[in-house]
Amino acid sequence: MNVTARYNAGLTGALWRGCPGADNGRARVPARAGGEFCHRRPRRDRSNNGEFRGFFATRVRECPSLITRLFYFRMFANSRTVASAQTGPHDKLAALVDRHRDAVFRKPLAAYSAGAFDAAIAAWRNAGAAPLIIDAGCGVGESTLRLATQFPDHFVIGIDQSESRIVRGKDWWGGEWPENFVWVRADLVDFWRQLFEAGIRPARHYLLYPNPWPKIGQLARRWHAHAVFPTVVALGGVLECRSNWDIYIEEMALALEWLGGVQPVVEAWAPEGDVAPMTPFERKYLASGHGLHRCVVTLPSSLDVSLDSLARE
Ligand SMILES: C[S@@+](CC[C@H](N)C(=O)[O-])C[C@H]1O[C@@H](n2cnc3c(N)ncnc32)[C@H](O)[C@@H]1O
Repeated sequence: MNVTARYNAGLTGALWRGCPGADNGRARVPARAGGEFCHRRPRRDRSNNGEFRGFFATRVRECPSLITRLFYFRMFANSRTVASAQTGPHDKLAALVDRHRDAVFRKPLAAYSAGAFDAAIAAWRNAGAAPLIIDAGCGVGESTLRLATQFPDHFVIGIDQSESRIVRGKDWWGGEWPENFVWVRADLVDFWRQLFEAGIRPARHYLLYPNPWPKIGQLARRWHAHAVFPTVVALGGVLECRSNWDIYIEEMALALEWLGGVQPVVEAWAPEGDVAPMTPFERKYLASGHGLHRCVVTLPSSLDVSLDSLARE
């Protein structure tokens, strides 16, 4: 496998192994389809403050004046806490989870999903098919790099629907560039079902700071209340979800227990000591003084079961 970078928009899905390429603030990013690359400055990442934070962190180090620091914190540590009319788990959660458990989810796969899935799985197999870690909704991919570093005997697939987040410059990454990962642009709603149908079961599965959809009417958009969630649970493995909204984690834990039959550990959580935040959202929430929450569970996996029969079990 090419050690530097691989991106192939021509595959109808985007697959990128990224590259260190952090020379003088420039990062190697794909220029166009077909795996060619150019050097250009990474765009500032205002959506999650990943590179933006890196840019200002460098300025603060170079010129630690109060004004610079104040500007940095104003732009970065300014995230609002989740506001919701909910004061506890949604009262329609149980009914919705039940409904999804009892029905077959038949949404057709998006046109680009087959290529994206095949490319990611080929990368994993070519690298030796080590135990798999899924980084679901990886954003700019920092958690993918951290997981690949933390679990060198595993292979990590970081999945995000946003191509721009996946391919933008990675010069905020100062560590060694791990070999055991790939990023893929894909819709998780398809990717999870494709994994299940292919009989591939991750050893670990991360859902880090998913969009909370905190309005009462947005319940069905939260992952644990989505029609694909029974499939996520049936994939099995160690599943960890983190959020800055405690109710999201409470609901996630309830749905995991109802569908998986195992009670997750739910806890308030923050990285301790020298442990760095795992993602840009985690870093921003911590800097903004938010409480962080997570649930972790080891789920049994169902092999030799089709998606259709999953609903009837
Ligand atoms: C709030 S961001 C969190 C990103 C990252 N995990 C972090 O903590 O910095 C949620 C991410 O989930 C991705 N996402 C949402 N729905 C998705 C879907 N259906 N398929 C793939 N990615 C999705 C978004 O593009 C976004 O990057």
